[in-house]
Amino acid sequence: MKVRDATELDAVACAAIYAPYVTDTAITFETEPPAAEEMAVRITAATSTHAWLILEDDDGTVIGYAYGGPFKAREAYRWSCEVSVYLERGRRRTGGGRTLYTALLERLAQRGYRTVAAGMTLPNDASVGLHRAMGFTTVGTYERIGWKHGAWRDVAWAQRAIGSTDDPPGDIVLA
Ligand SMILES: CC(C)(COP(=O)(O)OP(=O)(O)OC[C@H]1O[C@@H](n2cnc3c(N)ncnc32)[C@H](O)[C@@H]1OP(=O)(O)O)[C@@H](O)C(=O)NCCC(=O)NCCS
Repeated sequence: MKVRDATELDAVACAAIYAPYVTDTAITFETEPPAAEEMAVRITAATSTHAWLILEDDDGTVIGYAYGGPFKAREAYRWSCEVSVYLERGRRRTGGGRTLYTALLERLAQRGYRTVAAGMTLPNDASVGLHRAMGFTTVGTYERIGWKHGAWRDVAWAQRAIGSTDDPPGDIVLA
């Protein structure tokens, strides 16, 4: 497996990986799978301010991706990111999530970010396990915070410090 930066050319593959999670699960709260054009816009935006990384298998096939984005828009939040990771269905527990997240957190730290946070719709043993394994600590759970596929959904949040501990934090390195 190999990790590399995403480009707009990865939009089709990322949209294909993401679509079944949108249509068949409550892992994401989106309800319409984004088209490749929309995925390209997201890749470009994440790449310019945060990161969007691609996981390839030995044949060069895209099998997963992870990205960071702003945690919240208000200025004082700007050192904090929301992160997310998706693997092609059926590729679970083969080290892909850890490989992507390790690279993503390193990249975000290099850019000057200090905190990563992730929300996960419960239950999701793989996501809860991955975040725990990556050193995230539990923040808490929003109960009945979303309605999808005929049920109220709870979302657990976790966070982790990354990068320097020097204060005040320096400027974020933008592309
Ligand atoms: C969540 C996801 C990215 C994890 O990736 P993965 O490649 O399966 O995970 P890894 O093999 O890298 O596992 C890393 C660690 O996470 C934990 N983990 C992974 N899957 C787990 C599971 N099903 N149950 C408990 N812990 C699990 C383990 O500690 C594991 O380390 P170990 O295998 O050495 O014990 C993947 O399952 C996925 O794409 N799921 C669907 C999308 C999703 O839920 N994304 C997260 C949105 S919040």
